[in-house]
Amino acid sequence: MLALLSLTAPASARDLDSAIGKAVFDRLWVQAPASTKSADGLGPLFAARSCASCHAGSGGRTTFRLGRDDPAEHPGLVIRLGAADGRPDPTYGAQLQPEGFGKAPGEGRVAVRFAAAGRPDWSVTDWGYGAPAPETRLSPRVAPSLSGVGLLARVPEAAILAREDPEDRDGDGVSGRAARLPDGSLGRFGWKAAEPTLEAQAAQAFLLDLGLSTTDRPDPAGDCTAAEPQCRTAPHGAEAGEPEVRPELMTGLVAFLDRRPAPPPRPASPRGERLFVAAGCAACHAPSLPLTGGGEVRAHTDLLLHDMGEALDDGMGEGAAKSAEWRTAPLWGLSRALAQNAGLMHDGRAADVRAAIGWHGGEAEGAKARFGRLSDKEQAELLAYVSGL
Ligand code: HEC
Ligand code: HEC
Repeated sequence: MLALLSLTAPASARDLDSAIGKAVFDRLWVQAPASTKSADGLGPLFAARSCASCHAGSGGRTTFRLGRDDPAEHPGLVIRLGAADGRPDPTYGAQLQPEGFGKAPGEGRVAVRFAAAGRPDWSVTDWGYGAPAPETRLSPRVAPSLSGVGLLARVPEAAILAREDPEDRDGDGVSGRAARLPDGSLGRFGWKAAEPTLEAQAAQAFLLDLGLSTTDRPDPAGDCTAAEPQCRTAPHGAEAGEPEVRPELMTGLVAFLDRRPAPPPRPASPRGERLFVAAGCAACHAPSLPLTGGGEVRAHTDLLLHDMGEALDDGMGEGAAKSAEWRTAPLWGLSRALAQNAGLMHDGRAADVRAAIGWHGGEAEGAKARFGRLSDKEQAELLAYVSGL
């Protein structure tokens, strides 16, 4: 009985945090000033009104697929802005916020056309505050699934570092490097692994997507720059000296994120798995990583950055990542993404796993070529394995 009590007491405190966190995740924030002080402060410039608008169903992946969906209308696609060295645009900041309140117009509408070999060519029409800097590039990103992110947070740094091979000493063509951030921490979240913790990622989302301040990122005007004075002088939700998102709400939100269940394991064909390893996919999509405190996470990622070649180079650096570098995308939960007809890859450009492999280049050139040399039957087995994860 005693043992039971000591087990349930802390668990229920976490349950409470997590329930608060779910409410924060689903909350539709409103413009300040509002009568509900705790839910105002959205914007003045923003991309969406809630976390759930982009990560539907308590943390799902967006269904955006490039070529099928209008990027200007679809929730869950964001446009990061920056130069090759990661510097944000001097006028528009680090992300395009298409929506604005009051006198602050939205920053612009995103559009895409397709160039040679189906390569997407992104642009923004109706820039709200004049032309961006000539060196600013557009880096489109789809909202990933948040399933199991708490487990990814618990992979020990040593396990990530152990898989690095920046000089490619083993000569397999795959190097991979950890996303070492300027403060010494390791980036592991986001398509370019620019954020080290769930808390940092959530603070960044509040800042860039919702225009809300947190203890970590206290500016209530969010991503507005000095070149956007209408936004900087608009009313905001924070009391003097307080962030718009109070610390206890942030604690709850992080507990909620931390507890997102991993995608359910699926029965896999051992032959498909062997082919996946033999083709060299597992050199980056590591089937398993250890967890601090024991156990493993079967996410099929190494959490390292890899140079993925010219066709995936978006021209923009972020955190430790150069413009052609991306974090190995976790492949768990892919069956669900495919069932929902979501586009694969960072900008949703691939309709299925075969198309996703086709876009792999750079360090993944060898794996792509080995896949191409498999018989039709073996290719089908490998694709069925990956599509079923
Ligand atoms: C406008 C759409 C949008 C909104 C709103 C949004 N996100 Fe995201 N989220 C994204 C995109 C896009 C990414 C990938 C970002 C990147 O590559 O840097 C992402 C990434 C994440 C990740 C990292 C997942 C991983 O595997 O690396 C977490 C955690 C997350 N979001 C949590 C949140 C939380 C919490 C909120 C609300 C405070 C939120 N998001 C609001 C679009 C959104
Ligand atoms: C050199 C490392 C590397 C190798 C080898 C590699 N991948 Fe990837 N893979 C990545 C990275 C990085 C991404 C994310 C790239 C992006 O979105 O631009 C990715 C993305 C994917 C995606 C899309 C996932 C999603 O959530 O959208 C699939 C599917 C995939 N890889 C399958 C494979 C298969 C199958 C193989 C073997 C034939 C393979 N990969 C080999 C690094 C690699």
